[in-house]
Amino acid sequence: MSFQLNGKVIFFATGNIHKFNEARQVLSRHKITVGMLKVKTLEIQSENLEEIAKTSVVHAFRQCDIPIIVEDAGLFVEALNGFPGPYASYVYKTISNEGLLKLMEKNMNRRAKFQSVVAYFSEELDTPLCFKGEVWGEITEKIRRGCSGFGFDPIFKPFGSQKTFAEMSITEKNKYSHRAKAFRKFAKWYKSLCKV
Ligand code: IMP
Repeated sequence: MSFQLNGKVIFFATGNIHKFNEARQVLSRHKITVGMLKVKTLEIQSENLEEIAKTSVVHAFRQCDIPIIVEDAGLFVEALNGFPGPYASYVYKTISNEGLLKLMEKNMNRRAKFQSVVAYFSEELDTPLCFKGEVWGEITEKIRRGCSGFGFDPIFKPFGSQKTFAEMSITEKNKYSHRAKAFRKFAKWYKSLCKV
């Protein structure tokens, strides 16, 4: 996806429409217009989200040579020593929500956090810039699907809410979410750069 500010265009490389819609809402509040750009992003294997996002944004930049952002997220479950962490995507594809709940069976400690890293890169920079956000909450006992969300949203309930992310609208999810926090930081920085 891309956004324009004072005539500048930036692209957010993602194939995930849910991430796009969440980010679009945050950025639009900062008067940043967004659109979606699909480029193949490289996702290296690493235990460090920031390293994954940085590698990915540089790879995406090299393909199109324009200012670009990518976002990488992970889910860290306390009782599972941080599993699946940055491997959340693979774990979701393989065992999904049902599998994760099975691993958590009879576990009293349901604490978990989502982390998000938004990485930005352009030709003016030597290395990518990163903006981070996280949200703590709990893994629910059962899958609680609402009418929105993706991934682990149906089993993650942020502290301070009675609803899982999947039971929330995008506006509600953005009040709590790791991604919204990271994008808010990015938007603040980008606006200061463009002196809006
Ligand atoms: P990605 O590598 O940033 O795409 O995220 C890894 C995986 O974590 C995704 O495939 C989702 O399953 C999960 N994930 C990331 N962010 C969220 C979220 O906001 N809600 C639910 N699941 C998420």
